[in-house]
Amino acid sequence: MYKISIVGPGRVGESTAQILAKNELCRELVLIGRNANRACGVALDIQESATLLGFDTRVSGGAEPALMRDSELVIFTAGSPRKPGMSRNDLAAANLAVLDQTLDSVRQYAPDAMLLLVTNPVDVLTYHAWRVTGLRRGQVFGLSGVLDSARMASFISMETGFSARDINTLVIGGHGDAMVPLVRYANINGIPVSQFLDQATLERLVAHTRQGGAEILALKETSSAYDSPAAAIATMVDAVARNRRRILPCVAILDGEYGERDIAMGVPVVLGGTGVERIIELPLDGDELAALRASADEVRAHLG
Ligand code: 2OP
Repeated sequence: MYKISIVGPGRVGESTAQILAKNELCRELVLIGRNANRACGVALDIQESATLLGFDTRVSGGAEPALMRDSELVIFTAGSPRKPGMSRNDLAAANLAVLDQTLDSVRQYAPDAMLLLVTNPVDVLTYHAWRVTGLRRGQVFGLSGVLDSARMASFISMETGFSARDINTLVIGGHGDAMVPLVRYANINGIPVSQFLDQATLERLVAHTRQGGAEILALKETSSAYDSPAAAIATMVDAVARNRRRILPCVAILDGEYGERDIAMGVPVVLGGTGVERIIELPLDGDELAALRASADEVRAHLG
């Protein structure tokens, strides 16, 4: 991939930029923020690590929307983060307004770009971005399941003592309190996780996963999570930039899949060079489907 822009060089944007540059996922990486000095400072700081970490990605920053010109991918991390006690949905009005400004710039300078939404409430913002731009639906997608599934895998690793590398988990639905960690699909190198953990423990880990973001926020007090979100974003960008066609849970625009339409939320997709190539529809049992409906209702309540 030649050029990626990150709009919003806050903590998530900065951590993401570090990984994208270090892994050379593009030739040119641009950080765009309201405060030009800060955006330039973050970019320069990362650029100065190039000889130490050994990368050739060119990192630059500024406030001018024109800097995103001809980007193939625009990552939106701008807007207000949560404060302790807030839900992700409390941010909707403020962050939709910031997103609208960015979408104007995308239309003007990078009309063919794919959009990766990160800012919360991410399902609402992803749907809005797709509706407003009229882009192909596979071109607009958001972060949720890769992060939530990584959290669930970490908790299973901490509980069992087994390597996190071997743990596969799948969390679908909206990126909110009603998200749906699919225990039936969780396995450790193919062995169902129920082989190692009893029902009560699994229920506790599901609840922990749902509260994963809030837990970090409550502990840090002045910041939401950014290290694991950045690693999750980089995983998605890697799938796109290297056309890996990975099966990852991402926020995608639904048009009848899982019986839902006019909504975006987390579902397993094939993520490759053109974005979301297709949505994978899993057979869900009655409880899983009911949980997915409840999660969709939570998202829909904030779609406006
Ligand atoms: C999280 O779950 C920030 O929503 C993000 O940590």
